[in-house]
Amino acid sequence: MKIIVLAGGLSPEREVSLTSGSLIANALMARGHETALVDVYEGIAGAPVWRRLGDGDYHASVAETVPDLEAVKARCGGREALIGPGVLEACRAADVVFIALHGAMGENGQLQATLDNFGIKCYTGSGYIGSLLAMDKDITKRMLTLAGVANAPWILFDAAHDDIARVKAEIGLPCVVKPCSCGSSVGVSIVETEQELADAMAFARAYEPLVLVERKIVGREFSIGILDGVALPAIEIIPKSGFYDYKNKYQGGCTTEICPAPLTADEAERLADAAKRVFAALRLDNYARIDFILDAEGTFWCLEANTLPGMTPMSLMPQEAAAAGIPYGELCDRIVQLAYAKGQH
Ligand SMILES: Nc1ncnc2c1ncn2[C@@H]1O[C@H](COP(=O)(O)OP(=O)(O)O)[C@@H](O)[C@H]1O
Ligand SMILES: [Mg+2]
Repeated sequence: MKIIVLAGGLSPEREVSLTSGSLIANALMARGHETALVDVYEGIAGAPVWRRLGDGDYHASVAETVPDLEAVKARCGGREALIGPGVLEACRAADVVFIALHGAMGENGQLQATLDNFGIKCYTGSGYIGSLLAMDKDITKRMLTLAGVANAPWILFDAAHDDIARVKAEIGLPCVVKPCSCGSSVGVSIVETEQELADAMAFARAYEPLVLVERKIVGREFSIGILDGVALPAIEIIPKSGFYDYKNKYQGGCTTEICPAPLTADEAERLADAAKRVFAALRLDNYARIDFILDAEGTFWCLEANTLPGMTPMSLMPQEAAAAGIPYGELCDRIVQLAYAKGQH
């Protein structure tokens, strides 16, 4: 097949995405596909250059800190359009579009809706509705509550209404502050004091006006992938210091990850069941990865769902697939085949 791998974009997670995208493209080439890695924001001049096995690999890496998006924009002449020149034409020329984007328009449904409107049906991951529901943590939590999936009590603040006293009364300290629709822990803080809370809200707001303040759940952290409706073995995440923030996620050696997670059979079953309920409640499709914390009382609290989880071979979902006997290249190929089949209807 001819596969466009869409990566990059104008999101704080662009480097993570370019890394996932490069490795996905390489793995798909090794499986016999022709691939072209395209930066969705920068776009391409002319027709895509299809690479086959032996043509050379794609490369990218993630720095310790979030990239400077203004610099990326300046490089493209300050262009406002989020989809660059030639991108939709390239997608149309492909059999499948592998969306390796993270954050912003790639993950919140806007790109999926655009592809739908241009008649491009074979793309990986969830459709625009699932993407939107999962990207917005406030809407996610409303849906989870309706579906009976435990999630931490929270308050949503818009730019006009910070109310520290209300947080203290309804949520308590310590608590977690996060932008409503980011990922990769960008803008997320865990705070202990009122001053830290005020600072953390301002920090989260640097990313977007809507900010969530959530009760801190104390316990063990897990993430669990769903592939084609089936739960993969869960992974336990143990950062060596602090919480699972941007640095602990992407700098090697900062976090211990155990897969399959050491859970009892009952816990593993309850986690898989909760993940499948989240997948259904948010109308997700193809694949997704869902984050939970298990507290001392045995409750799995859902933090969020990721419709486009990290996809380097060392990322959580590929590790889970490997534990289920699905090597990285096969995982990428399965996701492609599911997208292709969906597009035939
Ligand atoms: N309610 C919470 N209690 C404890 N830790 C949390 C809570 N919410 C988030 N965290 C920590 O912050 C990290 C990022 O939060 P998450 O909601 O998953 O957002 P992101 O989309 O940025 O991954 C989690 O992996 C976890 O370590
Ligand atoms: Mg997360």
